[in-house]
This record gives sequence, structure tokens and C-alpha cells, in this order.
Amino acid sequence: MAIIITIDGFSSCGKSTLARQLAQELNYVFIDSGAMYRAITLYFLRNHVDWNQTPKVNKALAEINLHFEYNSASAQSEIYLNDENVEALIRDMLVSEHVSEVAAIKEVREFAVHQQQKMGEKKGMVMDGRDIGTTVFPTAELKIFVTADPSVRVERRFKELIGRNPNLTIEEVKTNLEMRDYIDSNREFSPLRKAADAIELDNSNLTREEQLQIAISWAKERLSISE
Ligand code: DC
Repeated sequence: MAIIITIDGFSSCGKSTLARQLAQELNYVFIDSGAMYRAITLYFLRNHVDWNQTPKVNKALAEINLHFEYNSASAQSEIYLNDENVEALIRDMLVSEHVSEVAAIKEVREFAVHQQQKMGEKKGMVMDGRDIGTTVFPTAELKIFVTADPSVRVERRFKELIGRNPNLTIEEVKTNLEMRDYIDSNREFSPLRKAADAIELDNSNLTREEQLQIAISWAKERLSISE
């Protein structure tokens, strides 16, 4: 029987990489829930939505349609905002600077969580984020909480972004990560927490392949139980 696998953790811990590889290995659907908060933030920024005003937020959310489509070239599901592929645009530093603030809004979370739960109805899914094992799928069969040393995370994020943004400094990346971790962990509605039944995976000293093999062994164990 298909299961749900949740992968939560702080920013830039390699959650999406692990989730994508694990989904590929199991032939499951991979959903990057952070992409949804990023796409909503992009819409708010583009349309100058004042997200401190609830009626404006509700009006904007009613205008937003999000969906994922599998792109065989990149071998991943890519996010569409009102039928526009925004997978690359949502990784912009401007979006990163505001996304935690937007993701802390109750109405935004309700909007995203509802869609995430619908996507997982058929199971056979790996979803990564911050509150997937606690709020979105509290009964998921396998919950992984990924951690890594802060310095390792800053370096990884910097390497990821510098190609697209040559003026970026390591200090900017560090400040952004610290700020997002703080807001994500301290917000009122479903803050970033390790679920009580999640398994911790510290990948500071692991290669992608090593962490994947560990996750595969956990998934196989859970799959054999749920058969
Ligand atoms: O995973 P990411 O860095 O792309 O996520 C972007 C932001 O979205 C992150 O700062 C916190 C928020 N987020 C969230 O609040 N809940 C999720 N399930 C996923 C992301």
C-alpha cells in the first residue's frame, strides 16, 4: 500500500533534494510545499497586496490558482501560478526575503494546507516543508526531520544562488536564513516543529547519496509494515 512521507526542517537543509530523490526512487509524487508559499508571495509582491490587511489577503487568495506539473526535462514537478510557470522566479532573493512573513499569515496557511491535504488524498507522495508532519499530514506513515549545521546550510544556499545572482554575499545569505528560521519557528500558526514521531536525519556530514540510502531504508521498513 502507498504511504505518505513527510520531510520537514529548517531552510536549506537539503529537504527538497532528498524529497525529490526519494519520490523518484519510490515512483511517488513529490511536492515542494515551500514553492506554494513562494508563489503566493510572488503574487502579493507583483500586485502590491498589503498583506497586513486581512480583506486584501482574502481577495488576493481568491485570485490565486496554484498547480504543479511534471516536467520531464527537469524530472520534477514545477509550480504554476495562474497558469504561468514560476518555478525559477520564486527562487528570487526578493521572494525569499518576504516569504516567511507571508507564510505566517493564518489565511495563507489555511489556503495552502487545504490544497496540500487534497493532493495527498491518494497517498504515494513525498512532501517537504515545515509543518507537513505536524499539521498537514499528522498521521503520515514516515516523518523525517532533516537538520544540518548552520554553516553548512549557508554554504549550500550560497552555492545554489550565486550562479543567478553574482553580487550576492555570503553574509546576505546567512542573514536571510537566520531570519527565516526565526520567523518560521516562532510564528503563531503551525510553527516549524519536529513532530514527536519524526526521525531526525542530520546530513551535515553526509553526501546526497548517503542520506538518500538512509531514507530509502526507512521508507522500505514503513512500506513493509503497511502492506
Ligand atoms: O522550503 P522553502 O525555503 O522554499 O520555503 C519557503 C518559506 O515558506 C519558508 O521560509 C517557510 C515557508 N514554509 C512554510 O511555512 N511551511 C511549509 N510547509 C513550507 C514552507
